Amino acid sequence: MSAAPVTVFVPGDASACSLGADRVARAIEAEAGRRGRAVHIVRNGSRGLYWLEPLVEVVTAGGRIAYGPVTPADVGKLLDAGMLEGAAHALRLGDISTHPYLASQQRLTGARLGIVDPTSLVDYVAHGGYVGLRNALAMQPLDIVRAITDSGLRGRGGAAFPTGIKWQTVHDQKTEQKFIACNADEGDSGTFSDRMLMEGDPFLLIEGMTIAGLAVGATQGYIYLRVEYPHAARALAKALQVARAVGYLGKDILGSGKRFDIAVRLGAGAYICGEETSMLESLEGRRGEVRVRPPLPAIKGLFGQPTVVNNVVTLASVPVVLARGAQFYKDFGAGRSRGTIPLQLAGNVKHAGLVERAFGLTVKELVYDYGGGSASGRPVRAVQIGGPLGAYLPASEFDTPLEYEALSAKNALLGHGGVVVFDDRVDMARMARYALEFCAIESCGKCTPCRIGSTRGVELVDRIIAARAGANGANGSHEANLALLDELCDTLFNGSLCGLGGLTPFPVRSALKHFREDFGDRFIFPRAGQTQGLSRAEK
Ligand SMILES: Cc1cc2nc3c(=O)[nH]c(=O)nc-3n(C[C@H](O)[C@H](O)[C@H](O)COP(=O)(O)O)c2cc1C
Ligand code: SF4
Repeated sequence: MSAAPVTVFVPGDASACSLGADRVARAIEAEAGRRGRAVHIVRNGSRGLYWLEPLVEVVTAGGRIAYGPVTPADVGKLLDAGMLEGAAHALRLGDISTHPYLASQQRLTGARLGIVDPTSLVDYVAHGGYVGLRNALAMQPLDIVRAITDSGLRGRGGAAFPTGIKWQTVHDQKTEQKFIACNADEGDSGTFSDRMLMEGDPFLLIEGMTIAGLAVGATQGYIYLRVEYPHAARALAKALQVARAVGYLGKDILGSGKRFDIAVRLGAGAYICGEETSMLESLEGRRGEVRVRPPLPAIKGLFGQPTVVNNVVTLASVPVVLARGAQFYKDFGAGRSRGTIPLQLAGNVKHAGLVERAFGLTVKELVYDYGGGSASGRPVRAVQIGGPLGAYLPASEFDTPLEYEALSAKNALLGHGGVVVFDDRVDMARMARYALEFCAIESCGKCTPCRIGSTRGVELVDRIIAARAGANGANGSHEANLALLDELCDTLFNGSLCGLGGLTPFPVRSALKHFREDFGDRFIFPRAGQTQGLSRAEK
């Protein structure tokens, strides 16, 4: 083994690992050893082309050559075929950065995903990292806030609130102690951009939080991390340790005399803990229950102090703005949705993955040009955008651009950018029931419409489903039940204290509006081939 080791990238990303990446990495080490070849395996993040995972890349004289999806059983044959030299093989994909799925993206926040070694600060800096922080250290706090305001950055956690206004509010508070609280609870179904960033480029989040601290005068940050993200926890722990050791965090950041540090806290495993005031309760060691606002967290947040609460993607977008300028960032986007958004394509779709594009890509472009249509090969019937509280859009609405105002005009929301695809076997009455059941299970219980209304909603949809199957009778007329469901949605929307109860009507009403036939008397149940959403007994 005298030759220099060949560098081989095998993603350590949680999704890639769930598809066997750890076993592939071990197989490469073992098979290379058996052949007397030295390899240096780097566990990078995922590039976000999940149907090709585990995606192995080999560093050759001609650049990085990708192979995928690789199974442990493929490894021996790949090595015999000359994978370590980038030789031909049925799984060879060539330079993955030229793949149309990636080449057509506009990766600003996710620019380093899959490219760098997430544990290496040297690699991060070599790929443009920490330019934003160095620029910020030379600026006055208010100028940093102004840059974020001018960039048009809005929160990527769901509410799309202008980040600059939030930072300005915290900046203006005259207190000794302020906090940066990063919301990394990522509870929305079909979303994974926070996870990918924390696992694949953790220094980016650390840099973004440090800049936020400088801007508003906070010296301590917390990352409230979804407990189901052990890979991200490990990546963050390692990156924090490295950043602290070389002076990017701590009492004297890069010799500036400015102080900032970050601690990770594991979430409590409830969807409601992603709601910002619940998150603060949980961070303080209490049960995750929504706080009444006002006061806003920006004025009285963590431990009663002014607190910036921002999502991972929001904070990870900050270094780009500070490194390349507010105008550069603002030049991407559509209408009042500025910059790029990492869309997460999931569900019944051929090419699931991460698509970072300027706001304005249409649903159709995302689902067909990137996604390649349904994985089942059947017609796509619906997409749910923005997590479990997001609206369902039918195929007739697929020309809608993925930006905040355009979706709002369709009574839909972009949320955290998750898009889940369903084919024509989906039963939309069942999906409406699921939304209400989700609300019932995840309700923090503080207010009545959500705590009780969600359960009454499940019962109502059950009656509607029974009626469409011909079991009407003692449970009231079908039309009366539909009207009651609509009224219940009004109560949830207007009477709930937070978005969990308040937004549950979105999936329910959109299903009722666009897929009425699934709720109606004329519904032939089940339709030919319909299985999605049905119970085991019904199948
Ligand atoms: C029920 C509920 C769950 C939420 N879950 C999350 C979450 O997991 N991650 C997140 O960043 N924001 C979540 N939010 C939004 C947060 O309350 C808050 O708006 C966000 O963290 C602010 O950061 P941003 O301005 O950067 O988006 C949730 C909101 C609600 C109502
Ligand atoms: S809407 Fe639901 S989750 Fe939100 S405060 Fe009320 S009971 Fe809690």
